[in-house]
Amino acid sequence: MAITSIDLNSKIPNNVGLSDDPKLRRALEKWLPNYLEWWNDMGPTDFADKPIYLRTAISVDTGGWAHYDYVKMPDYRWGIFLNPNKGEPIIPCGDDAGKPAWTEVPGEHRNALRRIIVTQADTEPASVEQQRLLGHTAPSLYDMRNLFQVNVEEGRHLWAMVYLLHKYFGRDGRDEADALLERRSGDEDRPRILGAFNQPCDHWLSFFAFTMFTDRDGKYQLAALSQSGFDPLRRTTEFMLTEEAHHLFVGETGMDRIIKRSAQLQKIDPNGDIRNQGGIDFDLIQRTINYWFSYSLDLFGGEISNNAADFFGAGLKGRYRENKFEDHRAMSGTYQMKVVDNGKLIERDVPLRNAMNEVLRDNYVADCERALRKWNRTLEKEDSKVRLTLPSRRFHRHQGIYVGHHFDTQGNLITEDQFAASRDKWLLRPEDNEYLKSIMQPVYEPGKFANWIAPPSRGVDGREQDFEYVKLR
Ligand SMILES: [Fe+2]
Ligand SMILES: [Fe+2]
Repeated sequence: MAITSIDLNSKIPNNVGLSDDPKLRRALEKWLPNYLEWWNDMGPTDFADKPIYLRTAISVDTGGWAHYDYVKMPDYRWGIFLNPNKGEPIIPCGDDAGKPAWTEVPGEHRNALRRIIVTQADTEPASVEQQRLLGHTAPSLYDMRNLFQVNVEEGRHLWAMVYLLHKYFGRDGRDEADALLERRSGDEDRPRILGAFNQPCDHWLSFFAFTMFTDRDGKYQLAALSQSGFDPLRRTTEFMLTEEAHHLFVGETGMDRIIKRSAQLQKIDPNGDIRNQGGIDFDLIQRTINYWFSYSLDLFGGEISNNAADFFGAGLKGRYRENKFEDHRAMSGTYQMKVVDNGKLIERDVPLRNAMNEVLRDNYVADCERALRKWNRTLEKEDSKVRLTLPSRRFHRHQGIYVGHHFDTQGNLITEDQFAASRDKWLLRPEDNEYLKSIMQPVYEPGKFANWIAPPSRGVDGREQDFEYVKLR
């Protein structure tokens, strides 16, 4: 099968042959100014005229797919890129596993697929909205550049999903594409679809926790969609995953640098008081982890889910690395899960297909645990006795079977009153945000970093520490 080459010169860079499909091209070119208007209104504030050292996707080759140069954000080349097909694609999972993949949307799966795509799409502009003010408090030009890189790529991910809606879902798809520019993160009347994407992200500790935990949910959702029988969705999400890796890097290393710096400040202070040194204390870091981890767990959906079973059975959405499994139908088999029954936690066997959300959540939790081990190694290296932990997956949930019950961070059932009494110990509180905002003064001098965060171990694209990642003058 021929690989369509990248057309970088067209109004919308793409490798999907837009120039051969005038109707689709016109529709997307009509959507483009609305997108730019949304970007100008709801994207990063104030830095539109500054050249930023950004990477732009120029190819889908694994080696050398990105090009780095100074770009002003509104001039970023948002494009539509699908990974090339290797061989004849098949449906990776479900009842029809092994049959040829669909190149068009099967009628019986139309609504489900549209819903899956819209839900994924909605998260992309939502996170840009959540992060729009952060440039004003960036701890360095390096971090500011990373923030804007994440933002423009979330914008591109929106393009990736809108392409699918326009190309494969007709009138409904176009309406959905318009609605994606109309909802607003945190808006009471027209909020974004998922809870975590309506939470405020108004300082950099939350930004790093968000890119660590919430973007990581995105990675696992995209990984599941990259095991879809709908071939264009599979190829689109595969390429999105390439970009997503950087967002996770920003979050994981950002948290690590804060943790490292906090340990250093604790050593410096005669009383070990990190706040006295203008840093971020470990209790506050732990509360931030608890907050964003629990909201991100919700994004995987219900633990016991008919939708999950239907999506898997229909071949719309597979498991993480479905090809590593031997049985792609998962008709038999059960998953043991803790459920609340008569005020007690008991084990229950759930049919495997109904537990697919939880199976994916397991992969996610294991990945987060790996990052926590890394952060704790950083603490060890700094001679700190502190250790950070992930709360139980039952703690502070707003979706799924644990809603309506209360758990401590270890996952033990407690009463509502007990939860309320400890809430401030476990979760971000308003005065935390006040403190964080008070120490987050911007640092715009090349090579300099705010006092509350350690410098990164290396620069972007092999650049020096004092490289001018954003030209502010
Ligand atoms: Fe994204
Ligand atoms: Fe992302």
